[in-house]
Amino acid sequence: METYLNKGIKEIIDQFPEVENILNEYDVGCAPCSVGTCLLKDIVEIHSLPEDREQEMMTRIAKTIYPDREVEVPKIKRKIEAKPEELKYSPPMKKLVDEHVLIKRWIALIPAVVKNLDVESDEGRQLILDGVEFIRYYADRYHHAKEEDVLFKYFDENLEILQVMYEDHKTGRNHVKTILEALERKDKATVAKHLTAYGELLTQHIRKEDEILLPWMDRNLTDRQIGELFSEFNQTDEQIGYSPAKYETFIDRLEEQYKQ
Ligand SMILES: [Fe+2]
Ligand SMILES: [Fe+2]
Repeated sequence: METYLNKGIKEIIDQFPEVENILNEYDVGCAPCSVGTCLLKDIVEIHSLPEDREQEMMTRIAKTIYPDREVEVPKIKRKIEAKPEELKYSPPMKKLVDEHVLIKRWIALIPAVVKNLDVESDEGRQLILDGVEFIRYYADRYHHAKEEDVLFKYFDENLEILQVMYEDHKTGRNHVKTILEALERKDKATVAKHLTAYGELLTQHIRKEDEILLPWMDRNLTDRQIGELFSEFNQTDEQIGYSPAKYETFIDRLEEQYKQ
């Protein structure tokens, strides 16, 4: 079993496809991950399931890999013991989780924006430009900059979980670029397609951060690092020099507009 713990998850799934279903049942699905070179033991450690659930899941995986043998399931070593109770975040992580709320409000508006999409009138086009500005300045520069330029620097940037986050941010930026180009050509279908894809991408991305990445980071940072991180976040916000209030007003206005 130890051999498999140190194997890449995608390789295991290729060999034993049933393992993917088992992981999904325990919400340890790696389907949303786009890179896919995590080791089995890392996945188990990062998701930090309650001990009994983890043992149960590992036993099922072991039975799938070795159907004819009794295999002893090793306990995954954790740097810090898991806290199975509800998610509690340190102040800097809480700040990121709180910022996600405004992004999620925007994502919730995307279906209505797409339904009423008008790329012909100035007013209709301005709405998309405003939405793109929200994504570029609030979601990307204000929020993702704190993740990429500050938080991720505390960890090994080659870690699969961080590579996945970088990849998602990059994919998001590409959607924005495509939306703007399509808007220029008044290509309604492409604007709609990439706006929708952006919403789906960010929904999964925020879920991964809120439920997996940020709690895992909290467990692996010292109190001193958490303090440092918080003050660095505040400095970054000051350097950026604009307040999120403007973007809250934009979202409030849209919510009002599309209120049934
Ligand atoms: Fe992110
Ligand atoms: Fe985020």
